[in-house]
Amino acid sequence: MFLFAMGLLLVILQPSTGRFPRVCANTQSLLRKECCPPWDGDGTPCGERSNRGTCQRILLSQAPLGPQFPFSGVDDKEDWPSVFYNRTCRCRGNFMGFNCGECKFGFSGQNCTERRLRTRRNIFQLTISEKDKFLAYLNLAKNIPSKDYVIATGTYA
Ligand SMILES: *[C@@H]1O[C@H](CO)[C@@H](O)[C@H](O)[C@H]1NC(C)=O
Ligand SMILES: *[C@@H]1O[C@H](CO)[C@@H](O)[C@H](O)[C@H]1NC(C)=O
Repeated sequence: MFLFAMGLLLVILQPSTGRFPRVCANTQSLLRKECCPPWDGDGTPCGERSNRGTCQRILLSQAPLGPQFPFSGVDDKEDWPSVFYNRTCRCRGNFMGFNCGECKFGFSGQNCTERRLRTRRNIFQLTISEKDKFLAYLNLAKNIPSKDYVIATGTYA
């Protein structure tokens, strides 16, 4: 709840903040408006040769804007991510991620077909050492730059 509230606060305070794949955060990608990075496994964009996904034009929802966009036409997050990219990876089956290199949540294995059970635990029922471990991971997340993502701190302009 606290994290959610923090997230909400950040969104309200910085309407232009967004998360981007690090490999697409460069002038060339932004000018071409394309973010279809190669998957390491076969070197083709979106792992296309391995049938993981393809580079496609993004599809935008036709639904009317909700009240979360009080600054219509100003907020770069409107129709995300079309201000920045109009072609991204569309992944097949259970593949996921900016280059289709990951599995959807709850799946694992070479082809992302193996079910993996994840259990959400109640934080109040963790042991002290489990709680310490959890907090240590939160601190790590706050202090180590992600190798995969960057955060924009300004507008597109
Ligand atoms: C995508 O963006 C590029 C670069 O601005 C532009 O040339 C192209 O026409 C756009 N394509 C679509 C389908 O909007
Ligand atoms: C993954 O898929 C490929 C291609 O369909 C297949 O050759 C391979 O055996 C599969 N691997 C596993 C572990 O299922």
